[in-house]
Amino acid sequence: MQLLSKFTIGDLELKNRVVLAPLTRGRCTPTENPFDVVCTTPNDLMVEYYTQRASGGLLITEATAISEAGCGWRNAPHIRFPENVEGWKKVVDAVHAKEGIIFMQFWHMGRQSHSSHHPSTNKTFAPSPIAMSGVKVRTINGEDAEAEVPSELTVDEIKATIADYVNAAKLAKEAGFDGIEIHAANGYLIDTFLQSSTNKRTDNYGGSLDNRIRILKEIFEAIVESGAYPANRIGFRFSPNGVFGDMGSEDNDVAFPYFAKVMNEYKPAYLHVMDGLGFGFHNKCKVVTVADFRKVFDGPIMCNVGLNKDTAEGMVRSGAADLCAFGRLYISNPDLVERFTHNWPLEPEAAYETWYAPTGAKGYTDFSVYDGPHKAVEAESQ
Ligand SMILES: Cc1cc2nc3c(=O)[nH]c(=O)nc-3n(C[C@H](O)[C@H](O)[C@H](O)COP(=O)(O)O)c2cc1C
Repeated sequence: MQLLSKFTIGDLELKNRVVLAPLTRGRCTPTENPFDVVCTTPNDLMVEYYTQRASGGLLITEATAISEAGCGWRNAPHIRFPENVEGWKKVVDAVHAKEGIIFMQFWHMGRQSHSSHHPSTNKTFAPSPIAMSGVKVRTINGEDAEAEVPSELTVDEIKATIADYVNAAKLAKEAGFDGIEIHAANGYLIDTFLQSSTNKRTDNYGGSLDNRIRILKEIFEAIVESGAYPANRIGFRFSPNGVFGDMGSEDNDVAFPYFAKVMNEYKPAYLHVMDGLGFGFHNKCKVVTVADFRKVFDGPIMCNVGLNKDTAEGMVRSGAADLCAFGRLYISNPDLVERFTHNWPLEPEAAYETWYAPTGAKGYTDFSVYDGPHKAVEAESQ
């Protein structure tokens, strides 16, 4: 299978094209004080979780908060403090010991956070003061709350946000990550700059397509200039079709291929696109597919959403994509690569209640590797 063949990103050789998609799992250890650094630091369970999946060609971590303003998900990890770096280092070292390659996904939640997570400002931030409609957010105490009207970032605050990304990149480097993925999807801060429905600015960061992508370009350039990572170790993720976070804009079919063309100039590690529709479709413009990006982006393209072994093989074999990211299948099949390799059956999707809730090992590290058909035979004979 071509899906299982090697692939090179920059100077990194991936052992196959199967990628662990970024998956928020909320498994840092909860304590009584939700602001405790323990609640944002990877623990031994998380080391085990990533190590179990290290046969993938590339592992992308769960979204990881780069700053106080950017955080907003209880028990999701941060990359802000020395303790965070120490915790992540254990994950990275364990994955490297299994010859895995791991990128950290950088997260600023923007308007999807809640002000209670941000004691120093008591605000959430976005390009424009537009609240999500029909979507609840969670407070620092874990209660559901109405989405708030975010504060419009000033240009000085945009510059400070870029500095936060650079700081996070230096810390990710210190933890030993092979690279980083900038989360520009799913209605989080950068996506809300990219899309016309959420960016109503009239300054250099809004209006034209060139203005709307400016923040992503500046983050990318600043990280490269800082020396933390070169361009070929920095990927980025788009979700032009998605509804998550009350997103979707009428011009996405024109805007996103243009954004990819602009980013192509930097020769990034890869472009990661949630082009499938199985995570929700806004239906406000035509579907944007990896084929639209292939025309304008020369580097590696990773596709995602709703893939299985056969559709992923088709994507690679047809040349539509170079890499295939798996989310829900990888949650319940830690040995996904081995199952693909040997044509072994797959476990069904994990129960939704275990996706993000702090259920510890349950629905997280308790999926066993395939151990042959004998179990089913034994069960039948009982
Ligand atoms: C439990 C869960 C957590 C997720 N967390 C993230 C995340 O942290 N960052 C992100 O970019 N996407 C996240 N996603 C989206 C997945 O990366 C992926 O795009 C989605 O699951 C569709 O792929 P699949 O059909 O292979 O599951 C999450 C999805 C799930 C199910």
